[in-house]
Amino acid sequence: MSTSKGKFITFEGIDGCGKSTQVKKLVEFFNKTKKTAIFVREPGGTQISEEIREILLNRHLEDISDRTEALLMTGSRSQLTHEIIIPNLNKGLHVVADRYSDSTLAYQGGGRQIDIEWLIRLNQFATYDIEPNVTFYIDVLPEEALKRKNQEKDRIEMAGIELQSRVRNAYLEIAKRFQSRYLIIDGHDSIDNIHDIIISHIKQRKYL
Ligand code: ADP
Ligand code: TYD
Repeated sequence: MSTSKGKFITFEGIDGCGKSTQVKKLVEFFNKTKKTAIFVREPGGTQISEEIREILLNRHLEDISDRTEALLMTGSRSQLTHEIIIPNLNKGLHVVADRYSDSTLAYQGGGRQIDIEWLIRLNQFATYDIEPNVTFYIDVLPEEALKRKNQEKDRIEMAGIELQSRVRNAYLEIAKRFQSRYLIIDGHDSIDNIHDIIISHIKQRKYL
């Protein structure tokens, strides 16, 4: 077993920015090297968290209040952090996450306009105070992201372009606030170019 801790790498951005595509490629890349990485996604990633996800993304549950949404998102996160993320980092594996705590700041803070300072405290509680080592924020315009997501939309995606614009503005603020771990990537570039940029950062940081 490795004696050093694994790195915690998160991906953030609005719906349809291309995160899942890049997360998948990065995990595949790591697993071709000697460095094993595991993949998690939010909300979800454990049995309990996936059940919470079902409630959160159910198109028929339009009455969920903004506060309930924030608490369910962070409830899902707490279980995932405790059950999967911390134990695997401690084993020396990298953890690559498709969304983590900054999604709550961007969507429930920027999108639903809940006080961001309070959400930061809530996130600290839910995450057992762990923070990503690096966050790749994939920036795309909401119009482009919407074009890419032409399949059936979940409850949050149904809220439309206005919400996505507020979420994007919030991400740009969050990136400034947490600039020591944030890398902003232009998501309008091609899938392969974005992947190459991500890999060059991973190599620079000696995460291999
Ligand atoms: P997200 O996880 O951010 O919602 P996805 O990775 O699922 O986004 O991508 C949404 C759609 O856009 C998919 O059909 C994917 O193939 C496509 N896509 C992803 N990255 C790009 C890109 N850089 N340029 C064009 N299309 C992309
Ligand atoms: P998902 O299908 O995983 O979307 P994507 O592929 O775009 O990541 O759906 C997750 C949705 O939940 C997405 O609209 C963002 C939202 N979300 C929040 O509102 N707050 C959060 O804390 C998290 C983790 C996700």
